Amino acid sequence: MTSMSIEKYRAYPRIELEHRTWPDKSITKAPIWCSVDLRDGNQSLKTPMNLEEKLEFFELLVKIGFKEIEVGFPSSSETEFEFVRTLIEDNLIPEDVTIQVLTQSRAHLIEKTFEAIEGAKRVIFHLYNSTSTLQRQVVFKMNRREIIELAIEGTRQIKKLAPKEKTSDFVFQYSPESFTGTELDFSLDICQAVMDIWNPTKKHKAILNLPATVEMSTPNLYADMIEWFGKHYKNRDSIIISVHTHNDRGTGVAATELALMAGADRVEGTIFGCGERTGNVDIVNLALNLFSQGVDPKLDFSDINRVATIYQKCTNMPIHPRHPYVGELVYTAFSGSHQDAIKKGMDVYETQNEGLWAVPYLPIDPEDVGRTYKRIIQINSQSGKGGVAYILEKEFGFKLPKAMHPEFGRIIQRVVEKSGHGIRPNQIFENFQKEYLDISTPISLKSCEIKTKDEITKVKAQLVYNDTDLTVKGEGNGPLDALGNGLKKAGIAGFRLVTYTEHALHQTTSSSAVSYIGLELGDSVFYGVGIDPNIGIASFRAMISALNRAMQCKQQQVDSNSAVVVN
Ligand code: KIV
Ligand code: ZN
Repeated sequence: MTSMSIEKYRAYPRIELEHRTWPDKSITKAPIWCSVDLRDGNQSLKTPMNLEEKLEFFELLVKIGFKEIEVGFPSSSETEFEFVRTLIEDNLIPEDVTIQVLTQSRAHLIEKTFEAIEGAKRVIFHLYNSTSTLQRQVVFKMNRREIIELAIEGTRQIKKLAPKEKTSDFVFQYSPESFTGTELDFSLDICQAVMDIWNPTKKHKAILNLPATVEMSTPNLYADMIEWFGKHYKNRDSIIISVHTHNDRGTGVAATELALMAGADRVEGTIFGCGERTGNVDIVNLALNLFSQGVDPKLDFSDINRVATIYQKCTNMPIHPRHPYVGELVYTAFSGSHQDAIKKGMDVYETQNEGLWAVPYLPIDPEDVGRTYKRIIQINSQSGKGGVAYILEKEFGFKLPKAMHPEFGRIIQRVVEKSGHGIRPNQIFENFQKEYLDISTPISLKSCEIKTKDEITKVKAQLVYNDTDLTVKGEGNGPLDALGNGLKKAGIAGFRLVTYTEHALHQTTSSSAVSYIGLELGDSVFYGVGIDPNIGIASFRAMISALNRAMQCKQQQVDSNSAVVVN
């Protein structure tokens, strides 16, 4: 039993809807989209956008492909008014884009809104008043009839001031605000009463927007309400049913999708779900959900990072790293089994699938939105050494000897601890390369000759040692023994070979040999790695790599005058 005050709450009532059809429907085409970023989104910002930011945002929305954009509530503030005027006077509204303006049903606000849109070529004039049962009682103290009168009054005034001729250049929209908090029969009555005044036709439709101003129920109940409304409205083909969901229960996307199945034609929302409280429905999410089902969303998110950057810059709002389709981490796999499955899926996709995307754990191809798939390897004291060696072998073909795993594991663990997050496979390889393959001081190998006769190998190696040329000659029972003896003769002594392994390395363009060598110096063992098409030279490089690492370590100990034990 919870200690929270559960007795304060009541379940949302079921909707009486016989033979509901929406559960059997699917969404086969994109709805009419209307962005309300510049109004609902903007009004909910801690610092609303200034004129420049609004203009940049408007341009972004146009570029994405929105054909209907609510540009503000021009009677509510000078900035909103000025923004609408700038769009019109500076001719910034493309021919195929219609701006939408919002007003409450109050005479002076309606008048001011008409002033704001003077000269606009196409406008959706959006009138709203709250119809909510609760607000009628506690806020307005008005009965149903009085609320209907308020809406009708506004509609009459708009009709009087609107162009006489009905064209698609002036579209009327009405929203019974808090539709989800209003008795359904009353929502129907008020919408019907408003439209009886406006008198839309099949040719010149009006928009009825039915908002989940506050999301109060499971999405199926919202869908029931939309289907019920569409079935009971008198002249269904003279209106466009629009939905406008907020996300109070975190199901704004689901509610909108079910509402589309229930017959809605149009969707109002914002990109990345900016808006009052938990926000408006996220249109990027909705559009890419459609895209993932093979339905053209009619909005372009092929460069989602650019959209995100402008959005963040203008709104000052962050995007959660796990936000669907756009978050920093949504195309990243951390789990080894996920990474493995994705790799196998990608291989099949690239070779056999005839272009049909079917990759485990990735609902869409990240490249379709301008992103790339990333793998992150989490290194901790348990996973460190084995995990790192596994990646080097599976991804890059290096089979490190087991004895070398702890040393390289520690190197990567230090990198991870310093950065404070996981590491990607190519970063593991970059560190491997830097540590073992690219190390060239104090000794580097310029050239060498190897000759074997009667089981005796002679080596002549041209080295650079502490910036000075050095010729090393030695002989032994194999190339490594010969080089080791030559180095000792040249004064580079004090080491003992303790491990040696080698294998072929198949890189994309050529095949080489890779050698791994462990050298004991004092009470420490240092590993080195060398690559070369010639296996003998690969082993020389490995020996020099190990020596360089040992000498650099000793030098650091001298420099810091402290005892660092490497084992
Ligand atoms: O959420 C809402 O009800 C609104 C209306 C003004 C449509 O934003
Ligand atoms: Zn809203």
